Amino acid sequence: MIALRDVSIDFVSASFTAIMGPSGSGKTTMLQCAAGPAQPTSGSVSIADTGITGMGELCRALITRLDVIFADEPTGALDSSTGQEILSLLRASVDELGQTVIMVTHEPTAAAHADRVLFLRDGVVVSTLCHPTVATITDYLAR
Ligand SMILES: Nc1ncnc2c1ncn2[C@@H]1O[C@H](COP(=O)(O)OP(=O)(O)OP(=O)(O)O)[C@@H](O)[C@H]1O
Ligand SMILES: [Mg+2]
Repeated sequence: MIALRDVSIDFVSASFTAIMGPSGSGKTTMLQCAAGPAQPTSGSVSIADTGITGMGELCRALITRLDVIFADEPTGALDSSTGQEILSLLRASVDELGQTVIMVTHEPTAAAHADRVLFLRDGVVVSTLCHPTVATITDYLAR
């Protein structure tokens, strides 16, 4: 089966992107391809103009750890105040430290902390919301 198809995305440095979509839509697969543990069958991944596809674990870790935080449902199992702390930390790491955050979440309240939300369905990015709010995200999901 194909978990992701023809996905081409730029994650701007020092930006916060949330990835949403139904279960099985390919969110975790996309994160794993972007972070490096999984390799796309075709195409490539670069961070700050350095290609990481095919790189060993050690090299990849050094490059990605400095610049990009990958989080797969970081607030999924947390109470709301601890979840809020995590989201504030992620936001601050972008705004104050210039890190790039890519976060998978099912929660509109979490995704609203991002600068944009990508919606995946069946391995394809079907929509993008810039400057999302809880209202615009829930409106999109209710369509
Ligand atoms: N190791 C694997 N072997 C075979 N198929 C897989 C594997 N991992 C994921 N898949 C399939 O790839 C597709 C995308 O899965 P993925 O885990 O990326 O979805 P997801 O959007 O993260 O879902 P969830 O919200 O449940 O975490 C699904 O159809 C899934 O069944
Ligand atoms: Mg997943």
